[in-house]
Amino acid sequence: EKSEDQIMPLSGKKVMVTAGPTREELDPVRYFTNHSSGKMGYAIASAAKKLGAEVTLVTGPTSLEIPSGVQVERVISAKEMFDKTISHYRDQDIVIKCAAVADYTPVTVHSNKFKKKNDTWTIELKKTDDILKALGERKEHQILVGFAAETENLEDYTKDKLVRKNLDMVVGNDVSKEGSGFGSDTNEIIMIKKDGSIRPLPILTKEQAANEILEEVMEMMKR
Ligand code: CTP
Ligand code: CA
Repeated sequence: EKSEDQIMPLSGKKVMVTAGPTREELDPVRYFTNHSSGKMGYAIASAAKKLGAEVTLVTGPTSLEIPSGVQVERVISAKEMFDKTISHYRDQDIVIKCAAVADYTPVTVHSNKFKKKNDTWTIELKKTDDILKALGERKEHQILVGFAAETENLEDYTKDKLVRKNLDMVVGNDVSKEGSGFGSDTNEIIMIKKDGSIRPLPILTKEQAANEILEEVMEMMKR
């Protein structure tokens, strides 16, 4: 197996992937979350492992099986994902942030179940810290890849995230499109790199999309 390792394109490389949604607790029985099956992130982690990388998967709650040989860090909230991701960051060669992180979290977490005594319930939310942006600010040698989930102006919004978060590449997908939405086994993505190149891809399985993303990353690593 050793000699096989040496010819693998990502052998000796450390890859961190984040996947799945986060959960923001409101009281002991309720939480806020995002649509996300985790399938895209798990497919990337699995593909990176097959290419020989040492893979860390930081995952929110999903119903998926951890790909074999992948090191897992399970998290629940955006704050936990932030801390875990930052703590592994320095060691990594490649970081791919696929997770659907909650943008807002409740200001107040009730320690007891909130009872239905009123007809309405107003909940105040505050912004979470942007993990990807923090990684961009702390970037040293790493190749940093983000995702952009959009429902309109896909190319412009995706490009904007590349610049704002100091990424090397951003993978955009229109989550309102058929065959590209949450929970689906396929994805239609557009890859935009720091050099300005834009590559739209047809609808692919998430496994195929994962390999295309890693191909682009390996291409960037050669330079
Ligand atoms: N992201 C993150 N931390 C957050 C929110 C988002 O790391 N608190 C990351 C996601 O993992 C993804 C990228 O930022 O890689 C883009 O997420 P997206 O929801 O498309 O964009 P946002 O920057 O959150 O902006 P908006 O939701 O307003 O489009
Ligand atoms: Ca968001």
